[in-house]
Amino acid sequence: MGLLVLFLALVFFVGILVGAGPSAESDEGLRTYVVQLHPRGRMVRSVYPSEMERHLSLLREAAGLTYDGDPSSRLLYSYRSAMSGFAARLSEAELDALRRSKDVISVRPDVQYQLQTTYSYKFLGLETGSEGGAWMESRYGRATIIGVLDTGVWPESPSFDDHGIPPAPRRWKGTCQEGQYFNSSNCNRKLIGARFFIKGHHVASSPSSAEDVSEYVSPRDSHGHGTHTSSTAAGVSVPMASVLGLGAGVARGMAPGAHIAIYKVCWFNGCYSSDILAAMDVAIRDGVDVLSLSLGGFPIPLFADSIAIGSFRAMESGISVICAAGNNGPIPNSVANEAPWILTVGASTLDRKFPAIVQLGNGKFLYGESMFPGNRHGKALKELEVVYVTGGDRGSEYCFKGSLPREKVRGKMVVCDRGINGRTEKGQVVKEAGGAAMILANTEINREEDSVDVHILPATSIGYSESILLKAYINSTRQAKARIIFGGTVIGKNRAPEVASFSARGPSLNNPSILKPDLIAPGVNIIAAWPQNLGPSVLPEDPRRTNFSVMSGTSMACPHVSGIASIIRSSHPKWSPAAIKSAMMTTADITDRSGKAITDNGAKPAGLFATGAGQVNPTRAINPGLIYDIKPNDYITHLCTLGYQASEMLAITHRNISCKSILAKNRGFTLNYPTISVTLTAKTRQKRIKREVTNVGEPNSTYSVEVGAPEGTKVRVKPRRLVFDRINKRLRYRVWIISKGRRGNGFSEGHLSWVYQSGGISYTVRSPISVTWKHK
Ligand SMILES: *[C@@H]1O[C@H](CO)[C@@H](O)[C@H](O)[C@H]1NC(C)=O
Ligand SMILES: *[C@@H]1O[C@H](CO)[C@@H](O)[C@H](O)[C@H]1NC(C)=O
Ligand SMILES: *[C@@H]1O[C@H](CO)[C@@H](O)[C@H](O)[C@H]1NC(C)=O
Ligand SMILES: *[C@@H]1O[C@H](CO)[C@@H](O)[C@H](O)[C@H]1NC(C)=O
Ligand SMILES: *[C@@H]1O[C@H](CO)[C@@H](O)[C@H](O)[C@H]1NC(C)=O
Repeated sequence: MGLLVLFLALVFFVGILVGAGPSAESDEGLRTYVVQLHPRGRMVRSVYPSEMERHLSLLREAAGLTYDGDPSSRLLYSYRSAMSGFAARLSEAELDALRRSKDVISVRPDVQYQLQTTYSYKFLGLETGSEGGAWMESRYGRATIIGVLDTGVWPESPSFDDHGIPPAPRRWKGTCQEGQYFNSSNCNRKLIGARFFIKGHHVASSPSSAEDVSEYVSPRDSHGHGTHTSSTAAGVSVPMASVLGLGAGVARGMAPGAHIAIYKVCWFNGCYSSDILAAMDVAIRDGVDVLSLSLGGFPIPLFADSIAIGSFRAMESGISVICAAGNNGPIPNSVANEAPWILTVGASTLDRKFPAIVQLGNGKFLYGESMFPGNRHGKALKELEVVYVTGGDRGSEYCFKGSLPREKVRGKMVVCDRGINGRTEKGQVVKEAGGAAMILANTEINREEDSVDVHILPATSIGYSESILLKAYINSTRQAKARIIFGGTVIGKNRAPEVASFSARGPSLNNPSILKPDLIAPGVNIIAAWPQNLGPSVLPEDPRRTNFSVMSGTSMACPHVSGIASIIRSSHPKWSPAAIKSAMMTTADITDRSGKAITDNGAKPAGLFATGAGQVNPTRAINPGLIYDIKPNDYITHLCTLGYQASEMLAITHRNISCKSILAKNRGFTLNYPTISVTLTAKTRQKRIKREVTNVGEPNSTYSVEVGAPEGTKVRVKPRRLVFDRINKRLRYRVWIISKGRRGNGFSEGHLSWVYQSGGISYTVRSPISVTWKHK
């Protein structure tokens, strides 16, 4: 225990989704690689009885072993569904030998990824019993299975009670894998499967550090993240849920009728691509409908990205893959998991606040928020002296461990800057040094973002502009004083949703012709299930136990969308992953609850690179009117239009593709994506886009087009009316986006909507248009 666990608290609360470099080299000079192979043809199949035999034989050859030599200790995983290939420990010489083998497509070092609600279902309009509610229509996501790749699960949580849930569908082939403090009796009709994948992590983590960390070698969750995300996707109703009294209400996942399958791939050192691929490989065969990945890294080219490659195969098997966009916002081009066949989710705020206002000695008030359990409306802390310990080289501004001199902070309210170490850890440091309370001050990068925590001492968290005022006040007086006035839980008073400051932003680094992220969903201060082995602050020193806790990140936004995908699938079992995604995107909200444009962390209106198509609206998504469908081969043609090399195409699709002949057959091809993104230059002054919509609404219906042309452009649409005479009828249209002679670089935004209105029924099928100007 100790340091490593503390570091984890930091990662899970602050970062949650960040990438890192390849795995460390081990003492024997071996490293882990993911080796991708040509799928075995009929001939290969006759030689080797199983994929594993073939993989062992390749390893044996690479190692120069005789037939009797045993390479099996080197083989970590054999893949056949998410990818053809294997993960193995290799020496440099073996690596070279494999790279030369004609069976091998590519060899990549194992990559380490990091992980990136009592109330959110109501905010999204999913009320039970309400007429026409999406939940009613779909029977709450019944008969669908959501696979969650994360840190495992705490199966005893009341959110995973299976009362009233029917048995798993008969097609389900998953199992409940035994391990430390976990056996088959921990699965039930809600939690129908649980497995763990640790080999990649195990060989990359030194044995000494492994001994220091208490972690269950089983599907059981020792970090909280996986319990939180899986209950957000499909937890059952739990009345009177709260975090030590705060945010009280009924806790419920997005799809309370859906089944959950747990794939534990993240451990104290993060999540390794070899383990993630192994989980996707098995999940495809187990029979999941939706895969939820609240993990990832920085944008990397698709052909080098195991998640993109594994999810291509998953998509071909009809599985919706939903991923977090990452927490590296508001930096442009930070959006991860950007493959067009993935649904990429950014994070937004709820209209729920936990006010904890600072009253300064000079009478001024600074707005802050806190989930400290003493936060009850009207309760105030007595006035204390405020100190901000600066200078020195031990990081006292950030309240690093051992940095606060006892004599300076004892009995006082201590100001700690946000960043670097964990937010709740700062509270622990203040407490250990004898401090009585803490003010957590945002720095410039956090702006006004207010992710709250369950601190271990009375505390509040203030925005960047408040922190400037606070520090100026402290500097202006010899004895600064302040008190914290708590306001309990307040709902519906603030503007929401807003895009969270940390939510990763487009444009997509690798493929600007697809607008990313795809949409946003609640990801700030989300309350969901929590394990019983650790307190809500995630600190080892925290003795408190609670069935629910609060977390923030695109990690929390992702499972909301995974749950909604399963609701849509339950209502429309024949829809493809692209159709389900289209339904959510073309019906997303672009305004907040007050009817005004969604803002970017309280500042100006949010751009398309922050919101994508907008905030997911499950009630509308279940009945979208029209959908934009995409077949697996369309993605291949799309990649060809981007100029991918044959070797890159092979790595992504496992097929020998001749882009030349595909492009010859598909002149002017554009991917039938539900959003539109084009680049205009001095040379390319117009773009033609083709789209095809499928009628899933009224059999006899006529839609007319409504366009908001992006600034500097003229938009022509042909035809301007679409007349449907039956369900599932497909109609095509074309769009020309024409420059009106603008100069310089930049972006402009518009939209195209197909609108139907008749009787009491209306549909608006909306696609945002993003234009990138490149004139220099
Ligand atoms: C947590 O849930 C368990 C199981 O439902 C229950 O027995 C326990 O009382 C709950 N704990 C709290 C603090 O509510
Ligand atoms: C599973 O574990 C529980 C508690 O540790 C134990 O009571 C039960 O007998 C075990 N069941 C099986 C099938 O091993
Ligand atoms: C505090 O005041 C001093 C002198 O007036 C100034 O140099 C310093 O920048 C101030 N610090 C803050 C944090 O405002
Ligand atoms: C691709 O072509 C190579 C060389 O012609 C061949 O060895 C390989 O089996 C093919 N792979 C697939 C997936 O068709
Ligand atoms: C749709 O319209 C056609 C002719 O206009 C009519 O024959 C058909 O019955 C209508 N279908 C429905 C479901 O109303």
